[in-house]
Amino acid sequence: MTEFTARIAGIGSYLPERILTNEEMSSMVDTSDSWIRERTGIRQRHIAPEGVTTADLAEQAARRALDHAGLTGEDVDLIVVATTTPDFTFPSVGTMLQARLGATKGAAFDVQAVCTGFVYALSVADNMIARGQAKTALVVGAETMSRILDWTDRTTCVLFGDGAGAMVLTGEEAGEGEQPGILGTYLRSDGRFKDLLHVDGGPSSTGTVGQLRMIGNQVFRHAVTNIAESMTTIAGRAGIGIADIDWFVPHQANQRILEGVARKLSIPTEKVISTVADHGNTSAASVPLAFDRAVQDGRIKRGDLVLMEALGGGFTWGAALARY
Ligand code: ACO
Repeated sequence: MTEFTARIAGIGSYLPERILTNEEMSSMVDTSDSWIRERTGIRQRHIAPEGVTTADLAEQAARRALDHAGLTGEDVDLIVVATTTPDFTFPSVGTMLQARLGATKGAAFDVQAVCTGFVYALSVADNMIARGQAKTALVVGAETMSRILDWTDRTTCVLFGDGAGAMVLTGEEAGEGEQPGILGTYLRSDGRFKDLLHVDGGPSSTGTVGQLRMIGNQVFRHAVTNIAESMTTIAGRAGIGIADIDWFVPHQANQRILEGVARKLSIPTEKVISTVADHGNTSAASVPLAFDRAVQDGRIKRGDLVLMEALGGGFTWGAALARY
């Protein structure tokens, strides 16, 4: 059977206009700009206005990614949306996006792996392309985290924001040598850690959406270890040294986690794309948001080796390696 490589044909992202600064946050809960910046690196987050949903953010990012790839919705035969904050219990954001973009071929669905969602979605799309099940895939991470926050809980509400990012993958016949495309993905989870990071509601338990709960300092400890493990594993499987990788695009949860992982693996901080200061933790949206920023500003160039990684509720964690 012919094997295909999933090439990154385009990327795009979208942040809602409304910015909520740390100063504003300190008038809502007992916190301060200096506490938030010192502990997390976050300066501000973007918040979707009332009436604007995850599908709206996803659509904007998807249209930008399709434009960047020189393609339209009609070309797309697979949509995988990573989100924890869908518009409805069903239908999926994926199928809503399919209708809005005029994509009538193939399949569309959502995956739910919280902050690792984009890496999981990329892995699903990469595998479907490799088996010839799809030719042009749209992989989206989109969130309105503001809708599941407890705005009276200073230990969580200062950390998150809304946004979306999207990537277009196209299947190319796999050949010899240094071809661009997804080189590998590595997915992990461990359900025993549910209580450290979860949402306390849902359709089948409380009949409500629920609110995010986190024991942050315990999540922090697991984050650095698990992320570093996934990065060395994926690089090892590809036969590549960490030092050979041009750019690291991490999930943007906390600047201190980014620096902790970089220190542990002796990665120069200039190689780590960091956007957390500008939009906080946007969960599944953060990896494509950061990737897009670095493509737009010219840091990530065609042919560069890029490692994406994330950790989130569940716990879930994982990594993806690509030659852009
Ligand atoms: N402003 C002021 N003080 C605060 C705030 C705040 N916003 N939040 C907590 N504090 C206080 C606490 O109450 C505590 O006070 P106490 O000592 O009087 O009890 C003190 O600050 C220290 O609290 P810690 O939780 O120990 O602070 P820490 O240095 O660990 O920083 C943080 C907290 C930023 C949450 C950090 O632990 C973190 O980033 N954790 C990881 C989060 C993460 O990576 N999540 C990723 C996945 S998210 C997802 O999947 C959806």
